[in-house]
Amino acid sequence: MSLPPNDITPFQQRRARLLARMRAQGGGIAVLPTAPAAMRNRDAEHPYRHDSDFYYLSGFIEPEAWLVLIAGADDRSLLFCRPRHPEQEIWEGLRWGPEAAAERFGFDDAHSIETLDQVLPDLLLDQPALYAPMGLDDTRGKQMRGWLAAARGRARAGRRAPEQWRDLGVALAEMRLIKDPDEIAAMRRAARISAGAHARAMRAARPGMHEYELEAELLYEFRRHGAQAPAYGSIVAAGANACVLHYPAGDAVMKDGDLVLIDAGCEFDSYAADITRTFPVNGRYSGPQRALYDLTVAAQEAAAQVTRPGRSFNDGHLAALRVLAQGLIDEKLLEGSLDGVLESGAYSRFYMHRTGHWLGLDVHDAGDYREPGPIGEERPWRMLQPGMVLTIEPGLYVRPADDVPARFWDIGIRTEDDALVTDTGCELLTRGVPVDAREIEALMRE
Ligand code: GLY
Ligand code: MN
Ligand code: MN
Repeated sequence: MSLPPNDITPFQQRRARLLARMRAQGGGIAVLPTAPAAMRNRDAEHPYRHDSDFYYLSGFIEPEAWLVLIAGADDRSLLFCRPRHPEQEIWEGLRWGPEAAAERFGFDDAHSIETLDQVLPDLLLDQPALYAPMGLDDTRGKQMRGWLAAARGRARAGRRAPEQWRDLGVALAEMRLIKDPDEIAAMRRAARISAGAHARAMRAARPGMHEYELEAELLYEFRRHGAQAPAYGSIVAAGANACVLHYPAGDAVMKDGDLVLIDAGCEFDSYAADITRTFPVNGRYSGPQRALYDLTVAAQEAAAQVTRPGRSFNDGHLAALRVLAQGLIDEKLLEGSLDGVLESGAYSRFYMHRTGHWLGLDVHDAGDYREPGPIGEERPWRMLQPGMVLTIEPGLYVRPADDVPARFWDIGIRTEDDALVTDTGCELLTRGVPVDAREIEALMRE
């Protein structure tokens, strides 16, 4: 039986908040499936991961489940899940079943998923709006359209099927932008475990080891502290591989004199951490490596300074860009004035991604990066508020080229931490692993 969160109250509170929001828009019914199981090869499945929106509202992590919320004079929360199945449970483990699930997860009622086709059309009747994800996969989209058609078919005089389909993801993305205390607690755990894993990899690194050996150190540390999985595919990239932004942990040998870039974080109780550190395989940064490394740290610090209420999501990116661009000019990687380089975008040859993203149940979390507003109009960047969590991850990637000083060739660096916006600034949740070059070198000597 999949373990539920100890305290189900935050999930009930989120359902109540969503229902209040729906009521304010005229009421309706929300219908949301969890994620399907996915086959890996032949009859082997990928490890199952529930849908993040579904989990956010339910805490329920079994596959084959739907959530139905009805906003009206008398709000109702319903769960549809797999019925108990003694034979199947011998192979796959215990299932909650509707009766126990309703009780344990705080639903008004729960039913077998096998009753969906009978029950859903009736539930849709007389609801002014259907709140459901826009991007349902083929199977679930077809089911939903079938229930709507059946509701229309059942409509008798005075009874109607919903006339509007609203994207449930929009409402949930707005809610998920501000983390509640339980979410922050899970994110702190994910951050702490992930920081420990990076520190472990730093201590373990030696010239001659393979990238995958460092990946093994990360995975060991994640799992032994109770993290359920990596939050995304770990990147362990030695030397020039670090210039490939989505390079996975590979089988290259880490050479004396190489840097190794590790971008890895665990998922703890469904919440992600996302950390990158770049360190010298032999324990000491060379001069050119150190120059660019310190630049990314300074850029990150500049971004962290403006990661606070009253500033926008984009301010950190602009602050980091200024530091990186000036540094690239100082190191003779770029020519011209700071304003000229920022204006022309010449820096993008060495820094081609943005400085951060929302973080939460998903590593690139739900949440609009702009303030809400009419479609078609230029909307301002989202203003930061306490409870938002975002990454700050400047980097520099230098590929060999005739007009680039050879001492910088094949250096790829990123420095990434996870920032919780507080009342007065931000707290970096992932500093359990050092970022300062001297501190990293000291840790590697241990
Ligand atoms: N690890 C994915 C990212 O940094 O965005
Ligand atoms: Mn990131
Ligand atoms: Mn990352």
